[in-house]
Amino acid sequence: MSQPPAGRVSGKIALVTGAANGLGRAIALRLAEEGATLVLVDIDTAGLAETERLIRTGSAGGSNRPPTSITADVTEEAPVKALFRQVLETHGRLDILVNDVGGGSTGHIWEARLEDWDHVIRLNLRSAFLCTREATAHMRVRGSGSIVNLSSGAREGTPWTAAYIGNSAYSAAKAGIHGFTRGVALELADSGVRINAVAPGPIETERTGPGFRKIEQLEYGPIRATPMRRIGVPQDIANAVLYLASDEAAYVTGTTLAVAGGR
Ligand SMILES: NC(=O)c1ccc[n+]([C@@H]2O[C@H](COP(=O)([O-])OP(=O)(O)OC[C@H]3O[C@@H](n4cnc5c(N)ncnc54)[C@H](O)[C@@H]3O)[C@@H](O)[C@H]2O)c1
Repeated sequence: MSQPPAGRVSGKIALVTGAANGLGRAIALRLAEEGATLVLVDIDTAGLAETERLIRTGSAGGSNRPPTSITADVTEEAPVKALFRQVLETHGRLDILVNDVGGGSTGHIWEARLEDWDHVIRLNLRSAFLCTREATAHMRVRGSGSIVNLSSGAREGTPWTAAYIGNSAYSAAKAGIHGFTRGVALELADSGVRINAVAPGPIETERTGPGFRKIEQLEYGPIRATPMRRIGVPQDIANAVLYLASDEAAYVTGTTLAVAGGR
């Protein structure tokens, strides 16, 4: 199969939340490789510095400007507003937003604590709302922009987490991301701004890998429950986000793309 051409997001300004670790880091690196100028956002300052180093020293040769890192809590309104003000002052525009921040768990529903439920909803949904609101206010005036949210296979329930720890708040939040994506897409469909989501299956990161191995012996372990019989790698998700963020997906909006090995 022929390789896609280089520079698929050349010259674009791309903001990735959760860029200090895991999938967010892989997404940021992939967008940089394809020519985007990155704004990396996270609460983990040390992790951001490492992502920034990897971009600067990696094969991100097409990146027209070096990345910048901003430490911010994207579940809070004031830091998010300040963050977008700073980006627009520095770059004059934003072309791509990736809402990667998410995760969290409440444990089994019968013992779930209210504060844990609220935390999961805030981390996954409130963060996406706050960042999307700021980005779209700018993008719809410009008449262009692409937003990619991180949903999850868990939007339809996840057999292994259900059995092991319970995870209904996370499933609810990721189903919420699907509905949010669809609703915002319809609001903006005629404005030149697109918004889509990627729903990863089990993807091996530093954080998730050990947990997946621990529960593989379950009847519905992550590999057994995945028709392609492998755990995904961050690059699988980064490639899907790159496509949706790029102009190659010009006629795609409101879609949640499953990248889940057939689940
Ligand atoms: N890894 C998987 O298997 C998988 C599967 C399905 C969906 N997802 C989704 O993909 C996304 C990334 O997953 P991951 O496994 O890379 O997670 P991760 O925990 O490794 O990374 C999340 C990042 O978000 C940052 N963060 C946390 N709270 C924040 C806040 N309030 N403000 C700013 N940054 C904050 C963390 O510091 C971390 O760098 C999440 O939305 C997750 O739900 C992951």
